Amino acid sequence: MPEFDWFYDEVRQVGTDFTDYDQVMQYDSNMGDRSAEIQKLIHIMKLDNTQTVLEIGTGTGSIAVGVAPSCKQVYAIDVSKPMLDYAAKKARDHKVDNIIFHQAGFLSYRHLGYPVTRIFSHYALHHLPDFWKSIALLKMYDQLEAGGMLYIQDVVFSFPVRNYKASIDFWIENLRAGSTFDEAELCTHIRDEYSTFGWILEGMLRDVGFHIVKAEYSGYMYATYLCEKEG
Ligand SMILES: C[S@@+](CC[C@H](N)C(=O)[O-])C[C@H]1O[C@@H](n2cnc3c(N)ncnc32)[C@H](O)[C@@H]1O
Repeated sequence: MPEFDWFYDEVRQVGTDFTDYDQVMQYDSNMGDRSAEIQKLIHIMKLDNTQTVLEIGTGTGSIAVGVAPSCKQVYAIDVSKPMLDYAAKKARDHKVDNIIFHQAGFLSYRHLGYPVTRIFSHYALHHLPDFWKSIALLKMYDQLEAGGMLYIQDVVFSFPVRNYKASIDFWIENLRAGSTFDEAELCTHIRDEYSTFGWILEGMLRDVGFHIVKAEYSGYMYATYLCEKEG
């Protein structure tokens, strides 16, 4: 239920429709082996059995299930019920029992109890338009304990704007040729979803109060941000 009449409806699907179970299965297979991302996360976020972790936009749960054995408790949320059902089954199949799955999003989730010590999100923030990304980051900041860490990984642009056509065509062509993502899906991402420039995201992160420990850009189309809420 939105907070106000003008509040963004984050349950309304934009771009790829993750309410469709076949798309969920296809997405999981397209993403392949995530073990490198899981190991990186455990290392850079210093995950151990004292950490309570919130993952936003868990999708098929690969990252949550991968990091959970290195955490005390994981809260994994997503707006898509089919995604959550798929992720919960993955957790059961891997005998992982310290993940609480919950249907909510960046804007609607309310963490009850102590603030979490870590928040991370992969390839989900681009589902929100820029203004709402800022509100989402503000909510993450408020739900994180002082000294806690945030990690965001997403499709984020770092090409010079004048090169936008060649950069995006190159990305679509490379990804189409080297994976099972189809061209229509990649076009949908650019046309209907809300990936933005790195300098905009960095400004938003700082504006809500985060200290950016490390911003990494690759291939002009991807970025990761490791941030701290200073204590
Ligand atoms: C591209 S998938 C990424 C899933 C997963 N994080 C991964 O890396 O495989 C994007 C996910 O974000 C979810 N999503 C879309 N809008 C959201 C929102 N406002 N809040 C939380 N999750 C959202 C979608 O349902 C989908 O599961």
